[in-house]
This record gives sequence, structure tokens and C-alpha cells, in this order.
Amino acid sequence: MTEERALLEARQVFRGFFGNPVLKGVDIALLPSRVHALLGENGAGKSTLINLLSGALQPDGGSILVDGKPVERFSPAAARSAGIAVVQQELSLTASLSIAENIGLAAFPRRFGLIDYRALYRGVSDVCDMVGLTEPLDMPVADLALGRRQMVEIAKALFRKPRVLILDEPTSSLSAHEAGILARLIETLKDRGTALLYISHRLNEVQALCSHVTVLKDGLVTADQSLSGIDGEGLVRLMVGRETGDLFPPRSVTAPGAMRISIEGFSAGMVRDVSFSARAGEIVGIGGFHGAASTKQPAARFHRRPFPARGRRLHHRPAGPPPGRHAIHS
Ligand SMILES: Nc1ncnc2c1ncn2[C@@H]1O[C@H](COP(=O)(O)OP(=O)(O)OP(=O)(O)O)[C@@H](O)[C@H]1O
Ligand SMILES: [Mg+2]
Repeated sequence: MTEERALLEARQVFRGFFGNPVLKGVDIALLPSRVHALLGENGAGKSTLINLLSGALQPDGGSILVDGKPVERFSPAAARSAGIAVVQQELSLTASLSIAENIGLAAFPRRFGLIDYRALYRGVSDVCDMVGLTEPLDMPVADLALGRRQMVEIAKALFRKPRVLILDEPTSSLSAHEAGILARLIETLKDRGTALLYISHRLNEVQALCSHVTVLKDGLVTADQSLSGIDGEGLVRLMVGRETGDLFPPRSVTAPGAMRISIEGFSAGMVRDVSFSARAGEIVGIGGFHGAASTKQPAARFHRRPFPARGRRLHHRPAGPPPGRHAIHS
């Protein structure tokens, strides 16, 4: 039985919020040297299940088992001492602390009652190397871009040398390069015997990294199976429970209507020389990497303050035409 080999397991767990059931009798078993995918649409209960597996939430019913033994009132401290580490969907770093302080926060080395920074830097440098963090270890996390903060979060989890590593949407803010580093890291951990649980909406990542999948739908497990022989379309079918052809309604081809907004050579803050237009009945997509200001642009256009600007960043403004050289017609 696979269940006997599981390092961490949820059996028939129930959990709801304010009378609304989210998990209605869910099983999942994490085995050593296996990268296990947890899939489900938004709101399916993936993060809730992770919170139960890491002791952050208590189940309303069912049990959590560590090494095959049920644990009463499983807590974050119990999870930590059982070697379970989680990289949460929402970052949990303290912005004012440095990279090293954040990574070592749970167990600062001390000398004569004070933090032994030399020992701290020595201790965290290995995990920083593993995730490709080359920034100075005393740099405040507040000065890092989102993707780099996520790498600090991953390093913090690795610092505990986990037997079970749970990653909730770890690549959502990573560049392709950083995601590649994480993928190699996952392979290494798997080879060392770590049990991994990987949540992602990026099905190509799931296919490349994971060998087993659990799918949640309407509070229940609708699939718990090996991923061998499952292609991309098969994964989508598993996840949404229907053929991929039914996912989107057929596009109706209608002629676009009158021009509703037209922007030419628009510049504001970090946004430089942007032009686009949208006609009635059109949906215009704006894409870009994190930090490419794709969210700032519409906010700036509609006179909303986009994000609080950090003073330091102002010194690193890219060269470009002065703000204000733009024409707006709407
Ligand atoms: N602390 C909470 N209080 C109230 N409702 C909650 C709480 N946490 C989660 N929920 C609700 O439980 C449901 C499942 O949420 P959960 O975050 O587990 O989904 P998810 O599968 O992780 O979704 P996503 O893919 O968007 O991250 C949602 O309807 C959510 O609103
Ligand atoms: Mg979630």
C-alpha cells in the first residue's frame, strides 16, 4: 500500500468557512521522491488543503498523518518539527529585514545573547546559492523585485532541510530563468528523497515536473493518479472535467464599432511612449513581464495612482523621452 510509505497524508479531511464547505472528504498522500501536483480551478480548495497539511488550519473532520501516524491538533510547530516546509501563495517575508534575516528567522544563531551574523551568513549562503540568489545577504528584502523575493521565500523553506516541501503557485512571479532554477532544484530534492507537492495553474510545468496528480473539484478529489501518458489536453480534461473544445464559446466575428479610446505616444512615470486603441466591441489585451509596467499603464491612463513609488527606484529610471509627450483621444 502506498499509504504506508507516505511522509504526510490527509485522510477524509473536511473543512469549511462560515458554514460553506470547501473540502468534503479529501484524501492525499505525499510520498518520498515524488513530485505530486495538486490541481483545481480557482477556489477549489488547494490552498485550504495545504493549510491543513501544514497545521495552519485545523480540519473540521478527518485526520492528518505524519509517517503513517495520525497527529492530534496538528500545528505549524508540529509541522516544522516533522520536516514540513511550505512556500505559501502569498509571500510571508518581512520587508524591513535582510535576505539572511528572513531566511534564518525561525532559528537565529546566537552568541552571548546576540544574533551571530557571521554564523547566519555562513548558514544561509548554501541555500542562497541553490536558488541563485547573488544579492548581498544583508540587503533588505524591500529592495528586491517580486521574483527575487519569491526566491528568498523558497530559500527560507529549503533552509529547514524539509522532508516534505509544499509549493503553492511558486512560479507566478518568477522569470523564465528563475523558474528554470526552481525546476532543477525540484529535481535535486526529488532525487534526495524529498516529498514534493506542487500547485500551479501552468499545466506545462506540471507536465514537466510532476509524476502524480490529485485534482480537486467541488470539494472532492476527482482524480488521484499517475501522470505518465497524460498529455496537455488530458491534464485539462482531468482538471475541468470536460473536453477542452467546450472551454471557450465559439468566437463570433463581428465588425468592431466606433473608436472608444485611442492613445498615442503616452508617457507617465515608468511608462514610455505607449500607443494603443480600442473600438466598441473589442477586448484589448495588455501583456508583459512582471515589472514591465503593464498594470501601471491603464492605471496611469485613468489617473489612478498605480503603486506607491519607492524613492530609491527613482534613481534607476530608464532613459527616455520626458513625461507628458502624449496625446489622448477618447
Ligand atoms: N480564511 C478564509 N475565510 C473564508 N473563506 C475562505 C478562507 N480561505 C479560503 N476561503 C474560501 O475557500 C474557498 C477555497 O479557497 P482556496 O484559497 O483554498 O482555493 P484555491 O484552490 O487555493 O484557489 P486559487 O487557485 O485561486 O489559489 C474559496 O471560496 C475561498 O474564498
Ligand atoms: Mg490558492
